[in-house]
Amino acid sequence: MQKRLVRKLDLEKAISKVKPHPTPRAYLEQYTISTETTAKILHIAAYTYDDIIGKTIMDLGCGTGRLAIGAVLVGAKEAFGVDIDREAIRMAHNNAEKLGVKERTHWIIADIDVMRGSFDTVLQNPPFGVQRKGADRKFLEKSLKLGYRVYSLHKSGKSNREFAEGSRERGARFVPVSPSPFLKRFIEKHGGEIKAVYAMRMTIPHMFDFHKKRKHEFMVGLYVIEGKKV
Ligand SMILES: C[S@@+](CC[C@H](N)C(=O)[O-])C[C@H]1O[C@@H](n2cnc3c(N)ncnc32)[C@H](O)[C@@H]1O
Repeated sequence: MQKRLVRKLDLEKAISKVKPHPTPRAYLEQYTISTETTAKILHIAAYTYDDIIGKTIMDLGCGTGRLAIGAVLVGAKEAFGVDIDREAIRMAHNNAEKLGVKERTHWIIADIDVMRGSFDTVLQNPPFGVQRKGADRKFLEKSLKLGYRVYSLHKSGKSNREFAEGSRERGARFVPVSPSPFLKRFIEKHGGEIKAVYAMRMTIPHMFDFHKKRKHEFMVGLYVIEGKKV
């Protein structure tokens, strides 16, 4: 069985072996999360909020499985990953096997709409709704139905500069920022309560024809949300 990874650096090294999608599609916003951001999210969830070790995890829109596989490497009891894309799930399955976590991961090809059940923790890097309006909100609504704690990445209303400057000023490892008023209202309307929002760096390599730069870097907010008791 795979040893539990505690150090962030060891986790990053392991996650870097989780291969990204070979043929990503723009309309599904199939961007793979960076190894650094994955490790940061898992460390916050595990060691600030105790939401990973020994817990059952759901990774909504799991892509090739970085968050779900990472959660098991940190010590989750088991993790489920769901994605609408068959190729992503095939890759997730292979990645889990390669990293020695096959027995504790379960992969489902489905639209998140059909998911039912209850999980201790939902982790998600949803489509930001850039290609299909409202895609991010659909993920938020579903995650709040499935999980007691939800970790969800969302585009920030603030400019990259404001976000980055805030991070530098405070000099902290994990930087809390204020939530978007729109998302706050949306989350509360669906029974959730925001515990914190942390600034995270998102890096997207040149993947699609409409990308102009070699890589696109921007800041997002990791929303830590308490859902209903499940
Ligand atoms: C931004 S990518 C994130 C992938 C992965 N979680 C990661 O962070 O590397 C969003 C993922 O959501 C999936 N997706 C989009 N709409 C979906 C839906 N309605 N149901 C299930 N998966 C969906 C896409 O195929 C894609 O893999």
